[in-house]
Amino acid sequence: MSERVELSEAEVAALQSAADAAAQRAYAPYSRFRVGAALRLANGELVTGANVENASYGLTICAERSAVCSMIAEYGPAMRVEAVCVTNLNNSASSPCGACRQVLAEFMDADAWVIFPGESGREIRRLRELLPFGFRFL
Ligand code: THU
Repeated sequence: MSERVELSEAEVAALQSAADAAAQRAYAPYSRFRVGAALRLANGELVTGANVENASYGLTICAERSAVCSMIAEYGPAMRVEAVCVTNLNNSASSPCGACRQVLAEFMDADAWVIFPGESGREIRRLRELLPFGFRFL
């Protein structure tokens, strides 16, 4: 049973600035919608990702999934994500897409945090609020 994680304002701010910095490195020449994601891991480290688009549009990888791939490459598949923050450079209210929610759920507990720009400012939600009834079979 994992411990329930609380987040301080300083931790949220650190995640947000890491996500913003990653968004600056995004490759999004087609949509011009640059997205950054920062994961806070169970070992206290931060890992980031950015969206990487492709001329064959469907091959695009979102920032959240790119961050998850970095985490696995760096720390292996047993690592857990305690919080994810997603930002974009367009000041757009934008939560993680459905595919990314499902991928994040593989490495996050249901009560882990998802932070994103909402309609009226920053939203800080539990994963279970974004992905009730996510797919699983194990
Ligand atoms: N995108 C993300 O990086 N994360 C999401 O959760 C949704 C969308 C990217 C994909 C594409 O490069 C651009 O945003 C516009 O859809």
